[in-house]
Amino acid sequence: MIELRQITKIYNKGKFNEVVAVQDVSLKIEDGKIVVLTGPSGCGKTTLLSIMGLILTPTSGEILYDGEPVLESSDYWKTNFRKENFGFVFQHINLLPQYTALENILLPLYAKDTDPGDFMDRAVELLSKLGVIERANHLVEQLSGGEQQRVAFVRALIKDPKYLFADEPTVFVDEDTSRIIYRLLQDLRDKGKTIVVSTHDPELIKIADEVHRMDRGRLVQTK
Ligand SMILES: Nc1ncnc2c1ncn2[C@@H]1O[C@H](COP(=O)(O)OP(=O)(O)OP(=O)(O)O)[C@@H](O)[C@H]1O
Ligand SMILES: [Mg+2]
Repeated sequence: MIELRQITKIYNKGKFNEVVAVQDVSLKIEDGKIVVLTGPSGCGKTTLLSIMGLILTPTSGEILYDGEPVLESSDYWKTNFRKENFGFVFQHINLLPQYTALENILLPLYAKDTDPGDFMDRAVELLSKLGVIERANHLVEQLSGGEQQRVAFVRALIKDPKYLFADEPTVFVDEDTSRIIYRLLQDLRDKGKTIVVSTHDPELIKIADEVHRMDRGRLVQTK
């Protein structure tokens, strides 16, 4: 479970270009749910997702994972916690263009005690499930936007994370790929994973268990 307590994020605090991107947001996100953040451009969705994902530190407020406060922990601890528990699909897909799809999935796994080769079967399974297995050895720069987005999902899910954060994951993809993504998110939910997704996509909003609308940094409505 993720619990946000009075989260505020002010960019460039005290400067002429100060922006209050998230203001006093409190929210509990239960496991096994698809939770949507929606609202107009600039309302703070990406900022809030980045804060939940411990990529960005809020100006004030607290975050608890399964009841444990995490913001005071060291960067080392946060990095490890992120690696073990989180999968991210970013708004701007950010794969490495000059590497193949498979390399993009396996390269981040290199670590002292990890052999990325151990994840090959799972990579193949996920690439197949998402319909991009024939693109495994193609350079990412030669893939379509929708194919890249599916590869980004495989990269996010390769370590079977408990939490998935996806930022507008159906913006660049066609209807068929969108349907594959809806199915994937529902399967993950049914396995008890926690999915937080920012979106304007009405079809994705339909499958959500909860929808939180933001406006100018604040949570204004919950359904
Ligand atoms: N790194 C940054 N430095 C300064 N201001 C920022 C930064 N990132 C975002 N902002 C500002 O914070 C506000 C919230 O941005 P954010 O990206 O969270 O919005 P969003 O809801 O994800 O928008 P979109 O739907 O366009 O992706 C915006 O006004 C934006 O200009
Ligand atoms: Mg955004």
